[in-house]
Amino acid sequence: MADKDPGSYVMGNTSEEADRLGMQASLYDRHTEYLLRTAGLKEGMHVLDVGCGTGEVSLCAARIVGPSGRVLGVDREPGVLARARDNAAASPFENIAFEQGDLADLDTSGSFDAVVGRLILIHLDDPIGTVKALTGLVRRGGVVTFQDFNISRTRAVPDVPLVTRSVEWICAALREGGRDPDMGERLAHVLRLSGLSDPRVAVAVPTGGPDSAAVTLIAESARSLLPVMERGGITTAEEADLDTLRARMSRACTEVQATVYVPELVAAWAELD
Ligand SMILES: C[S@@+](CC[C@H](N)C(=O)[O-])C[C@H]1O[C@@H](n2cnc3c(N)ncnc32)[C@H](O)[C@@H]1O
Repeated sequence: MADKDPGSYVMGNTSEEADRLGMQASLYDRHTEYLLRTAGLKEGMHVLDVGCGTGEVSLCAARIVGPSGRVLGVDREPGVLARARDNAAASPFENIAFEQGDLADLDTSGSFDAVVGRLILIHLDDPIGTVKALTGLVRRGGVVTFQDFNISRTRAVPDVPLVTRSVEWICAALREGGRDPDMGERLAHVLRLSGLSDPRVAVAVPTGGPDSAAVTLIAESARSLLPVMERGGITTAEEADLDTLRARMSRACTEVQATVYVPELVAAWAELD
């Protein structure tokens, strides 16, 4: 897939996008923790969380590793890191630190028991090169695990055409920005090409009713991607009508009493030989 906007974060770096990330993180909190535990995170580990955003994955990791472990979150955006630090300060955990840095030139000395990253490989121009480099920071027997979405599987059951159309807009916008909306299903392949043997995979999917955070997530993702949609001729502000999109989706879901399945969260992981 051609990268039409190399190196940039396709969802934008606005405070609305930071709000959306926080909302998305609460929806996936328990699923993320389950997948991190399944991948082998344990009490006492020293964990690096790459592309930590507003810090929710770091908080999940801190809950798992407990007071005898430590978590370092790294992100290149100072705005999200400020929120990450506030979130950590408001939490009961004292074993989390955050640093600003780009994963392309991470200068992290010392070795970690685990490297984790959620919704980061989809945004990188060279995911394989990055996983290879990050693997070098993990001790033998440690864990490398990444989580990403399969966005095209987002749906309402029974079908709600407005949900289907909104998901199609989101997927098309991500492709327009050079990103794979179904990065989740490529994770194991990426780990294998990065030199990791026998990667394993698990999937977790939050759901919600007609008036739930699941509906909000779809509407707010469309909002963050509107500039890309307009640039790529995918839809217009008039057609998407973002100020009413959530309410219209919610009404349509209520009419058929739909359950909304948000993007599948896929985890792939491997232990270092
Ligand atoms: C979709 S957010 C995910 C945040 C967090 N991992 C989560 O799941 O809530 C992606 C994050 O990766 C960061 N990011 C993207 N490319 C990066 C890079 N090359 N180096 C460091 N951070 C990067 C962005 O700033 C953003 O905060």
